[in-house]
Amino acid sequence: MKPSKRLDLIPPYLFAELERKVAAKRAAGVDVISLGIGDPDRPTPALIVEAMQEAVSERETHQYPSNRGRPDFRAAVSDFYARRFDVELDPATEVMPAIGAKECIFNLNLAFLDPGDAALSADPGYPVYTGGPLLAGADPVLMPLLREHDFTPDLMAISDKDRDRAKLMFFNYPNNPTGAVVRPGFFEDVVDYCRATNILAVHDNAYSETTYDGYRAPSFLATPGAKEVGVEVFSWSKGYNMTGWRCAAIVGNAAAIDAYWKLKTNIDSGLFEAIQLAGIAALSPDADGDVKEMNALYARRRDLVVDALRAIGVDVKPPKGTIYIWAPVPAGFDSAAAYCEHVLEEAGVVISPGGAYGPNGEGFFRISLTTPDDRLLEAVQRLGRLAG
Ligand SMILES: Cc1ncc(COP(=O)(O)O)c(C=O)c1O
Repeated sequence: MKPSKRLDLIPPYLFAELERKVAAKRAAGVDVISLGIGDPDRPTPALIVEAMQEAVSERETHQYPSNRGRPDFRAAVSDFYARRFDVELDPATEVMPAIGAKECIFNLNLAFLDPGDAALSADPGYPVYTGGPLLAGADPVLMPLLREHDFTPDLMAISDKDRDRAKLMFFNYPNNPTGAVVRPGFFEDVVDYCRATNILAVHDNAYSETTYDGYRAPSFLATPGAKEVGVEVFSWSKGYNMTGWRCAAIVGNAAAIDAYWKLKTNIDSGLFEAIQLAGIAALSPDADGDVKEMNALYARRRDLVVDALRAIGVDVKPPKGTIYIWAPVPAGFDSAAAYCEHVLEEAGVVISPGGAYGPNGEGFFRISLTTPDDRLLEAVQRLGRLAG
């Protein structure tokens, strides 16, 4: 048996590697607390679960879905975008379901990139922005997100050569892993840049509903001209505690969505219709209270972690969005990986090394807030004892 050479191009998926390490520790009897993966610990809101229960008992949902999606799903996304983001979408051509944002982002690479092409990928960034281009036979070109630039890429720093072979640009605010929100004017810069270069802008909007301190994250598509140059990938996973459900949508440029559709008809058979119906329920104003409640819980956890880190001398800012704290590695460690290894070995706490999200993540670590309060408190106390 000989897997393809393509597989040798990508490192093992970060969380697969972490899961293996944690399983080994637990098997050895260590009480490991994982603050690694961003997977909400609270249940999916009852109104969504109930909509799913009803939908799954309807036989009309049991057959192959169409890849274009149910008309009522597309209409619900369009209504939500109008209500939430003040963005107008044609449900017939500018909305399509996806089997999670991960599937969508990966498949956009296959739909748009040929060998020799490039994708401009935020660094640090969600690993699929680099793994996707590589698996498509193309090259990721990294756009550094630096703390001193509010974790915003400098589009003018992209070389002419890279610009000319790039066909996609991946960016994401509120941002994983840095927790940064979009810098005013950046989306406008992306529209100008992509218009001038014919690059498809792909805004990964996985965290728009998870924000704090009164901040409301905008849609990229609310930027004038954005729909001409780009798409946005919206996910139900984080905002509605639905990571296991695999519910997302691509919205925006109709020609780009059409290319994605053409690819997908050859790869998968669409999003289970019962999940589309549950997704509709999530987007109704009736679910707003659940989202608010979750955000209040994360804000409390965020403050708990930020205070604990500051108490041990870590210079960290409370993020306005996402479920992550991004913090500099304390002095005395060669790399983020070395620090995370130390924390796992000595405190039994899993945190993610920044370098796993790209070279510019080096020197940072990421803590996810998706762990029950008592365990999170125990974890930060262990970090405190380790430092003290
Ligand atoms: C930035 C970003 N995009 C996409 C995803 C994946 O979302 P989904 O569960 O919809 O595939 C994640 C998950 O962690 C993420 O952090």
